Parts: sequence; C-alpha cells; structure tokens
Amino acid sequence: MKEPLKLGVAGLGTVGVGLLGLLAEHGQRVADSIQRPIQVVGVSARDRRKDRGIGWEGSTWFDDPVRLATDPGIDVFVELIGGEDGVAKQAVEAALGAKKHVVTANKALLARHGTELARLAEKQGVSLDFEAAVAGGIPVIKTMREALVGNQIRRVYGILNGTCNYILTQMQTEHRAFADVLKEAQEKGYAEADPAFDIGGFDAAHKLALLTSLAFGTRVAFDQIHIEGIQSITQADIEAAHDLGYRIKLLGVAMTTESGIEQRVHPAMVPKHSAVAEVSGVTNCVGIDGDFVNTLLLVGPGAGGKATASAVMSDIVDLARGVLIPPFAVPAAALKPYKRAKLGQHQGAYYVRLSVYDRPGAMASIARRMSDREVSLESIVQRRPRASLPGIDARPVNGDPIPLILITHETTEEAIRKALDAIESDGKVSEKPQMIRIEKL
Ligand code: HSE
Repeated sequence: MKEPLKLGVAGLGTVGVGLLGLLAEHGQRVADSIQRPIQVVGVSARDRRKDRGIGWEGSTWFDDPVRLATDPGIDVFVELIGGEDGVAKQAVEAALGAKKHVVTANKALLARHGTELARLAEKQGVSLDFEAAVAGGIPVIKTMREALVGNQIRRVYGILNGTCNYILTQMQTEHRAFADVLKEAQEKGYAEADPAFDIGGFDAAHKLALLTSLAFGTRVAFDQIHIEGIQSITQADIEAAHDLGYRIKLLGVAMTTESGIEQRVHPAMVPKHSAVAEVSGVTNCVGIDGDFVNTLLLVGPGAGGKATASAVMSDIVDLARGVLIPPFAVPAAALKPYKRAKLGQHQGAYYVRLSVYDRPGAMASIARRMSDREVSLESIVQRRPRASLPGIDARPVNGDPIPLILITHETTEEAIRKALDAIESDGKVSEKPQMIRIEKL
C-alpha cells in the first residue's frame, strides 16, 4: 500500500454527506483496488452541530474552508460548497495557490471562472477535476476528456437538469401542477438552494458551458448561452406535444455551425420515440455526436447525493493513481476564443401555440404572416376547447380565443420570430404566442 491520499472536504450538504457515506461503505474496497487508502483528514461546513446522519469525527473540523484549503495536512481540496463566487471561489483559489489538487462539483463556479481557474491549476502543476459538476453520476467529463479524444465533436446535447426533467415528466404523466412537483423535487434534494437556477435554465446552462469547452476546445463562455427556462410550459403544450408525437424536454445544445458555435438551453420538442424522450424523472442524458464514434448517448442519475458522490470519488481515485489531465482536455493556454453563432440563423422546425380570436379571416391572416416570411406549415391543428366537448354546456361563442397549434417545416429563427411578432401586432391573438424549437435527434 502507498501512503494515504489526504482529503479536505468543504461542504457537508447532500453531496458532501454522500461522499462520506461512500467512503464509509467502500473506502476499504477502493483502497485495496488502487493500493492506496483515501482519508478525509479535514472537514468544513457552516454548522458544526447539525445532525447529518453520518460522523466526521475522525477528521479535524475547520470553521473556515479557506484555511482547510491551504492546510499542509491535505493533498486534495474537495469543494462541495457551491456558488459561483464567495467562499467557494476563495477556497478553490487558495487551494490551487497552495499547490493542492482540487476536486469540485461546482458547475456555477466553473461556468463563470473555469478558464482562469484552469490556467491557475496548470501554472501550479495541480489538477482541477469536476466530474460531478455535469450530469451527476454520468461519467461524461471523463468520456469527453479521455474516451473521445480521437473524435471531432459536432454537437453535444442533453437533459442536464434533473429537477426540470422531473417536473416535466410529472406534468406529462400525472398531470400534476408545476409548483407541487417543484416542492417535491426540493424535498428530495434534487433542486439547487435557489430553485430559480433550475427552472430558469441556468443550472443546465452552467453544465452546458463546461461541455462546450470540452467538445470544441474553446474558453468557457457561459455568458454567450441563449437561456430559456421551463416556466412558460403549460399543460396545454404538454398535451399538444403528446398528440403530435413529441415530448417536451429542457435541452442544452452546443453545436458547431458555419457562423460559429450555437449554445442554447430551452424547452424543446423531441420525437416521442427517440431515446431522449424516454429519459424521465430526475434522470439526465448527454448525447455526443463525434465524427468517428457517431452518436453516443449516456443516461443516468443527474442529481442526488449518492450518484454525485460517485462522480466525486472517480476524480479522487484518478488523483490517487496519479492521473493528471488538463481540466478542459487541452492545456488552458491552448483553449480557443469562443465565437458565437447568431441564433437568428438557427435552422429548425418549430411548434407554435396561438390563442386565436375565433373570427372569420383569423386563420387566413395568420397563414399570410407566415408566408410573408416564407415559413411553410407542416401541420395545423385547431383544437376544440375542452368546454365545448359533448355534455358540457359552456360552448365558446364566436370571437372567443381558441387554441391553434402549428408545426412548421424547417425555417430560420429570425423568420419565425418576425412572423409571430406580426401576428401579435395584428391583434389576432389574445396572448403572447408560445414557440418551442423542435430538435432533430
Ligand atoms: N439541481 C440540479 C438538478 C442538481 O436538478 O439537476 C444537479 O446538478
């Protein structure tokens, strides 16, 4: 056996407790396997007295994570505090400054400061590993850094937020209300401390920013991501998607185009029979299109203490074995500047839901606005409002708003947006049109 690898673990929330639990259960087995014990010698968290259901008594308690990060007794600083700035950033910078390897699950920190932190780590000759920062237990960072190094990546995409996928799945299968499901996701420990990060699409965008850099060898460019959350998705959209052969998923997509890299997070229609549509609940998936491997789809638990701890442990074991790889696969100095593609030039088909005043000529005027922008329609469904179903008295009267669902053929984002702006300013609809991109999978 070699001498132990000594960890300082900062943050004893869902993931930190998961890591202590994993070491308690499998520490000996891992040590036998890699011929090196792994010891948690120091811990730090906000509240020393809190009952976490697991002991840390064999370790020294540090009130200040920055002190733990630079403690001469540790080899690796494991940052599980979270947050893009503040104490997590100070502690990681201090650890790297003191030539400690860093393992982190902090996607927000890396999405904002990943390039600079990677430079610092490399300058100091230490590692900055973040398997747990993207898609929980799915080993996607390792896959992209190591297994796919022989490929030119064309696109990386996926369901990157378990909370949103859980909400959308429950709305679809159980017809449950959004707020209700979100509360449950929070209770189960899936959601971020501030769940607005989940439902607003920011958490998925943090993860996408990291995948983009790994895929294309570019500097981390979180600020260049087009982000939409799932707040605007209604039961009407979920049902219409089902009727039309789709499911709605919050996707993160990064792809190369002629004008640059497209990075976007938004609800998307995916064909009901695609593998991605089958990914339900808190499960995540990441699809990678490489020129030699073709398409790879990794599916697994995207959140939760145990699955995320499993990913943290894989980084720790790499360090125990002496495996050091640049954080974003290529040396930080060789990361290319990011060039953003114009979203207006995005090519794709679209789902549109309009609430149209039921008057003569309304449909003709909508069709004209679409044709003005050369948007061709693949299908049109004027849905009979529920209130007019047989046996229900309250039939809508002429002039009431009724739902109209359109699916377009492939067009550009600029064309569909301009057509919808014109439809809205014509006064033919009672609310802002809903538009959801249809993703080719
Ligand atoms: N809040 C995140 C999610 C946790 O729901 O996926 C994992 O990053």
